[in-house]
Amino acid sequence: MTVKVAPSLLSADFGSLREAVKRVEENGADWVHLDVMDGHFVPVITFGPAVVRSLRPHTSLVLDAHLMVDNPEDHLETFARSGSDLITVHAEATRHLDRVLRKIKALGVRAGAALNPATPPEALDYAWPLLDLVLVMSVNPGAGGQAFIPEVLPKIAALAGRIRSRGLPVELQVDGGINADTAPRVIEAGATVLVAGSAVFKTDGGMGLIRAFKLMGGPRRAV
Ligand code: DX5
Ligand code: ZN
Repeated sequence: MTVKVAPSLLSADFGSLREAVKRVEENGADWVHLDVMDGHFVPVITFGPAVVRSLRPHTSLVLDAHLMVDNPEDHLETFARSGSDLITVHAEATRHLDRVLRKIKALGVRAGAALNPATPPEALDYAWPLLDLVLVMSVNPGAGGQAFIPEVLPKIAALAGRIRSRGLPVELQVDGGINADTAPRVIEAGATVLVAGSAVFKTDGGMGLIRAFKLMGGPRRAV
């Protein structure tokens, strides 16, 4: 089993997003990670479904919408109609996680739940049948370029254990501070999808990291 890589456009030039998608696709990306921020759940505002709709015709990669927004239930239809393949909501952003996940599935889109660094894995104990993906935040959401929080490693391992023991087809995505040093650690803990923003878009040779991350996943897991 190899890991998938989902470069985050948050660290790309917002004036050339179409070009950024093309570059990550050419460099072996599996998904495109879209960080949607509303200025409430996190202080920053980024972009909404109109941007997803504009990118949709230009790539066949999975469009992975990470909604860092309060009341995500109000935005599910527009994101589904925009061509998002996967919609991830924060467990902390809604009182009704079960209802929100069911609504995403009813819209024909894959559903994910994200956990902030301090949110325990038990938050998802009764939601497993509804989940296609769990996103573990390894920084506090709201900005790219932050340092990886190592305290989340045991949480990644705990969630990987739950997924494995139940035999669930759930991806375990880790997002925040992923680079050549931290990627092997999260893969070791059980991550199956790595999100990387600044490492890919803001370092020399960053595009090459996409294939490097995938190689880290392959051989390690095969032995
Ligand atoms: C943070 C976002 C991340 C961010 C990761 O709120 O959810 O996806 O872009 O950026 P890096 O890889 O720079 O930590
Ligand atoms: Zn993200």
